[in-house]
Amino acid sequence: MHKRLVLIAFALLTSASVSGVAMAEEGEGSLPHSGADITNIESLQRGSRNFMNYCSGCHSLKYLRYNRLATDLNLPESELPGNLIFGDAKAFDTIGTAMPADAEGWFGKQPPDLSLIARARSVDYIYAFLKGFYVDKARPWGTNNLVLPSTAMPDVLASLQGLQKPVYKNEKDEHGSSNMVLVGVEAMTAGALKPEEYDQFVRDTANFLDYAAEPVKAKRQSMGIFVTLFLLVFLAFAYMLKKEYWKDVH
Ligand code: HEC
Repeated sequence: MHKRLVLIAFALLTSASVSGVAMAEEGEGSLPHSGADITNIESLQRGSRNFMNYCSGCHSLKYLRYNRLATDLNLPESELPGNLIFGDAKAFDTIGTAMPADAEGWFGKQPPDLSLIARARSVDYIYAFLKGFYVDKARPWGTNNLVLPSTAMPDVLASLQGLQKPVYKNEKDEHGSSNMVLVGVEAMTAGALKPEEYDQFVRDTANFLDYAAEPVKAKRQSMGIFVTLFLLVFLAFAYMLKKEYWKDVH
């Protein structure tokens, strides 16, 4: 009986923490796993550099300040200007962009602020999105995207990745007529980075956006483990206390 109670309590505690993780990963469909690790500070440092060099021209991170970034990523604040801060922003400023607020006319859509994009979409989505550009002459920029069809974002990393071409498959629909369905992409020209290097580049960038969306995420997750352990230890004491109280009654 007692054993069973302990087992049930243990199952409840662990399932609570596991279901939290499962929920976070729901709805990502068949996206490839990015392998991004928010506790990997070096990856986040590289990701922040990638972001500042390749994305901040169009996208802001308006909920993140440079000095918070410096503290979390172990970067000396004195090294920010020239490395992460371009222009005359101060360390306590939030991460802005030079893109005017009415750039819609250029792209057909305003480049969104990316502070919360990893929470709105997911880190795997960003990873797949940045690997999903392919040549499509029908689009204004000459490229399209597997994950976000007809995206307004140009293929800004083409020089690093090289160009990709779409792969179609002939599929029959329920009426028996065959259609060409886009099933993936394959390399067409080589870029400055080898495929594994490009994957790492994109993984670091997506990882950095995951951090930006919730700077305390790594801390929260590690704290969760301690809280669960604490509850388990507490459970043992509570159980011993209960036995002590009831021992004369039985
Ligand atoms: C030349 C400007 C430009 C640059 C540079 C740029 N983007 Fe974008 N980005 C856009 C535009 C425009 C959109 C809106 C696309 C849409 O909604 O179709 C966008 C949208 C996005 C989205 C949202 C996609 C969605 O599902 O809503 C993500 C994520 C993103 N960009 C990531 C990046 C990253 C990471 C970089 C740097 C590697 C980058 N962008 C560089 C213009 C840019």
